[in-house]
Amino acid sequence: MFFRNKITYWYENNRRDLPWRRTADPYNIWISEVILQQTRINQGINYYYRFIELFPTVEKLAKADEELVLKVWQGLGYYSRARNLRQGAIDVVNNYNGKIPTSYKELLKIKGIGEYTAAAIASIAFNEPVAAIDGNVFRVLSRFLGISEAINSTRGKIVFRQKANELMDIHQPGTYNQAVMEFGALACTPKKPDCDNCPLASHCFALKNKLVEQLPVKLPKNSKRTRFFSYFIIIDNESILLNKRTQNDIWKNMFDFPCIETNIEASPEKLTETSEWLQIFGAKKVEINKISKNITHLLTHQKIVIQFIHVSAKPSEMAVNKQFSIYNKSEAQKLPCPKPIVIYIEKENLF
Ligand code: ADE
Repeated sequence: MFFRNKITYWYENNRRDLPWRRTADPYNIWISEVILQQTRINQGINYYYRFIELFPTVEKLAKADEELVLKVWQGLGYYSRARNLRQGAIDVVNNYNGKIPTSYKELLKIKGIGEYTAAAIASIAFNEPVAAIDGNVFRVLSRFLGISEAINSTRGKIVFRQKANELMDIHQPGTYNQAVMEFGALACTPKKPDCDNCPLASHCFALKNKLVEQLPVKLPKNSKRTRFFSYFIIIDNESILLNKRTQNDIWKNMFDFPCIETNIEASPEKLTETSEWLQIFGAKKVEINKISKNITHLLTHQKIVIQFIHVSAKPSEMAVNKQFSIYNKSEAQKLPCPKPIVIYIEKENLF
């Protein structure tokens, strides 16, 4: 068939030599596919090497401390991926005798493995003909076939899945899936796709109908929720007060500073009137030594506006509790922290 022949031929000649393409080990493929969700390949490679070096088997990952797994993930974002990988490994060890299941259907039952990851592992490691559909695949199929259904609508997802499975090369499903993804990543790109050299050009609906720029269609998503975080730097020469984020929220189980969150931008004076201020500082008299400029950190669905407030209070004077703990600086370096926190610590040379 035209599409699968052309695209697999293109792949054989254009594929990047990536570390996880040299293995058929489902564990390695699982890790690489999870890293590559929402991460560019160039950034992902180093994380992949480090992850596999520290956690070379599903047993090792299952036994690892969550804090260490998060630390290795630090900087990649979407930290639930790291927590879920570890939970998935625990699931495999406890309930599957340490052997990763070999079918799409069984893989889907593992904690943290969704449709895309299950299809990628089943096809690449076990040759099961099931389409793995990521953003690249949506774009290639939408343009080649002229599918104008929105890729983020329920109906769109059904249509794309059906087409993707129809086009699938059942004799080499892993190669086929990676070929479509790779083609989307390198040739049929979101902006300025290389239509002049495209092996599919003669049969491409979008090219013929001048719709390349219009496809794929994506429904506008809700605007981002804005949150304001005021972080307090409570530090002395040896130690610092840190907060463990235990709530079901962004950055779960990572460490940041004691924080007051508001829905609107808040001045330090306003913050002193909140109940959170009392929780952090009690009735102590606290001087403000310095306030950073606002720093904006964008997540998929949220915009976090951050200010760092350096105060005169010392860690040793603070009440420690479930959330807040005093760490000496060398201990603190080992803890997993969200990116804006790491950047600020480095910029200010805090520890
Ligand atoms: N993106 C995510 N996984 C991929 C893979 N295995 N090949 C090409 N692109 C990808």
